[in-house]
Amino acid sequence: MRVAVASDHGGFELKEKIKLHLIECGYDVVDVGTDTRDSVSYVKYGHSACEKISEGSCDRAILVCGTGIGMSIVANKHRGIRAALCTNVFMAEMARHHNDANVLALGARILAAPYAIKLVDVFLSESFDGGRHKDRVSQINEMEEVIL
Ligand code: RB5
Repeated sequence: MRVAVASDHGGFELKEKIKLHLIECGYDVVDVGTDTRDSVSYVKYGHSACEKISEGSCDRAILVCGTGIGMSIVANKHRGIRAALCTNVFMAEMARHHNDANVLALGARILAAPYAIKLVDVFLSESFDGGRHKDRVSQINEMEEVIL
């Protein structure tokens, strides 16, 4: 699986830790930045990571900012992106089981790094349940055709 990672300055350190963990786990990782602690907008980096999914070069993305809120808002403006802002393991599980989320947004100022990495592991390993949830995701796709 190919995973894009992105952050602003608020998420930079956690993004670096997540990236190292993913590489150790054998994932192909595409880091679209940011690359320093200098203050930057989460908009550009969140957008770049989502583009990797839209163009088909990545399967999932992990986006990190201070709260995860800005990154999740940006990501959900993209057609075909279902971004889930998760603060616990249950949310990460449900994001995959029920929502078939392809983007995980995390808050570096909310979560301790080891727990954030646990959420990443859950998000990347759990599967979509399909069934009635597939119908609901299809409804989201239909809605995108009208409003995006
Ligand atoms: C940056 O200070 C902060 O606003 C950003 O990381 C994020 O939390 C926005 O949603």
